[in-house]
This record gives sequence, structure tokens and C-alpha cells, in this order.
Amino acid sequence: MKAVIPVAGLGTRLRPHTFTVPKPLLHVAGKPIIAHIIDNISGLPIEEIILVYGENGESVVDFVREYWKGTVKGVLQRELMGLGHAVYQTKDLINEKDRLLVILGDTIIEGESIKSSSLDRDFIAVKEVDDPRRFGVVELDEEGYIRGVEEKPDRPKSNLAIVGLYYFTSTGLLFEGLSYIMERDIKTKGEYQLTDALAYMLERGWRPLAVRIEGWYDCGKPETLLETNRILLGKTGSKYEIPGSLIVPPVFIEKDVEIKNSIIGPYVSIASGAMISNSIVTDSIINREAIVENISMTSSILGQKAQVKGGLRRFNVGDFSKVELG
Ligand code: UTP
Repeated sequence: MKAVIPVAGLGTRLRPHTFTVPKPLLHVAGKPIIAHIIDNISGLPIEEIILVYGENGESVVDFVREYWKGTVKGVLQRELMGLGHAVYQTKDLINEKDRLLVILGDTIIEGESIKSSSLDRDFIAVKEVDDPRRFGVVELDEEGYIRGVEEKPDRPKSNLAIVGLYYFTSTGLLFEGLSYIMERDIKTKGEYQLTDALAYMLERGWRPLAVRIEGWYDCGKPETLLETNRILLGKTGSKYEIPGSLIVPPVFIEKDVEIKNSIIGPYVSIASGAMISNSIVTDSIINREAIVENISMTSSILGQKAQVKGGLRRFNVGDFSKVELG
């Protein structure tokens, strides 16, 4: 089985971090997003991972080559023309008879959910959401098979959103569908969508199952990255004791971190080389070699070598006065 992971997107919603680091290499709960993704599919019989990367994204391929023991290939998507276009770039590396998993590079799906699904049927992973209009949405028949798909519909036919994990027991019809939308220039919301190729496949008798996924964590926006950090630390965060500081679990602290006279946690992930002193840090991601001094900080993401320094304030406040600092 092969796995295609499209990681070419610009990650505009995670700027400024994605100006310097490709989104899949951003840290969450102690390791890069792509490392979580690979750990979660490591229980599956995957022989080869193909990454579709964009300009400046070769570092993601290098990282995965170091991190994963199987064969890793990279394909450059020169122009970002949509997810369907990204998957199409892999056509020369995939045979018709290959089994194929396509998994988005900014979505962490818990390993258990993937393992429990059967690999002898094609499937699309879905989750019930309150507002499906932001997602690809599936429509099911009476037996639970998918009979329709639509990308970000104004009037969704169900509340089952496509979570970014697709499985094909063979790939002939998939690449036929992708060629079809590209040759006829079929775009939705300005992009060649994978969903449109899937609709083509359904019209020609493809019958995938909808597999409901529980653990699905989006990393596409600062708020969702921090939420994913909270959830994953809640599952995996370790206990730490640092003399002179108070560490409130769950947190993740990598080696070579210096913490002095501070309160850290809950829900803080700190990468190696970071230095924190005289500060209170909760619900935050602190990347490598960042410096935090004299500040109280929450719901924050600090990039590599970023520095945030506050100061102690001096007051001389009379009886019955009120001082409120925002
Ligand atoms: P998104 O739609 O989330 O886009 O892509 P993005 O560029 O990553 O993020 P924003 O919207 O600018 O903030 C979903 C997944 O599909 C990949 C992305 O890398 C991401 O893993 N993708 C998307 C491609 O590889 N190529 C494309 O042309 C589009």
C-alpha cells in the first residue's frame, strides 16, 4: 500500500509561522504535525509514502526520510491548483493495482480510528459536524455507502464532513477522475478539487464506505493548532519537576529547555533550547530556542528563536484605588 500526503499548501492561515516553516513541520504537542500523522498511520501496511510538496517544502520530504523507515518520495507541485491537482501529480508513481491512502498534511487522525477500519473496501473518513458548509460533505445511501459528495456546499445534504483521509483498493478510476476534471478544466471555488474527481467516480459506480472517525484534529489555524495541542497533551503529556518552578500537567518539555522561577502549564509544549524565566505560561506552544522573560502568557504560539520579554511594573496605589491592566 502507498500513502500520498499532500503538503504543498501555503498555510496562509498560520502565518507568520508558515513564512519560515512549512505547515507540516510546525510543532504541536512535542513534535511536528507530520510526525503525528506518520505515527498514526504506522500501524498500517504502508511500503511507500509520497509527499506532494510545494516550493520551499523540500524540508518536509527530508524530515520524513529521517523519521520514517520505509521508502519516501517527493513530488513537486509547482502551482497550487487544489487538492485534486496535488494528488494528480503522483500519477507516474502509482500503479493501477496499488492500494492507496490519501491523507492531508494538516490533519491528525488518531491511529485507532484508522486501524479499526477495514482495508478491503474503499472508504472516505467522515465526521459529524455542526456546520458542514466549510467542508467536503458526503451523502449516504440506506446501507451506509457514499452516493454523493460535494465541496463546501451552501446547502449540505448531510452533516458528515470529509476529514481528509481517503482509501482506495485500486487507483485506475481515481486517476481517470482526476484526468477528467483537469482536461475539462472543472474547478470548484477556483481549484481542481479531489471531491470533483470523487463525484466522477461515484457516477461510474464507485461505492466507498463512509467510515466515521472520532479523533480528528485540525491544525490549519492558530486556534485549532492550540486546541489540538491541548487535546494531544491531555492524552500524552508527561509529568515534570523543575526545582524553583511549578509545572502544572499536562505539558511537554523537550530536552535542553531552561526554566527558572516560572509557572508552566497546563497545556504547554516547549521545544528544545527554549528559555523561560520569571513567567507564567499556559495553553501555549513555544518553539525551539524561543525566549520568554518576565511575562504572563496564554493561548500563544512562539516561533523558533522568537523572544517575548515583559517587565515587572511598579505601583504606588492609594487606599480604595483600582488598577486594571488589560
Ligand atoms: P488547505 O486547504 O488547508 O490549504 O489544504 P493550505 O494552503 O494548507 O492552508 P491555508 O488555507 O492557506 O491556510 C489542505 C491540505 O492539502 C494540501 C495542503 O498542503 C494541506 O495539507 N494542498 C492543498 C496541496 O498540497 N496542494 C494544493 O494545491 C492545495
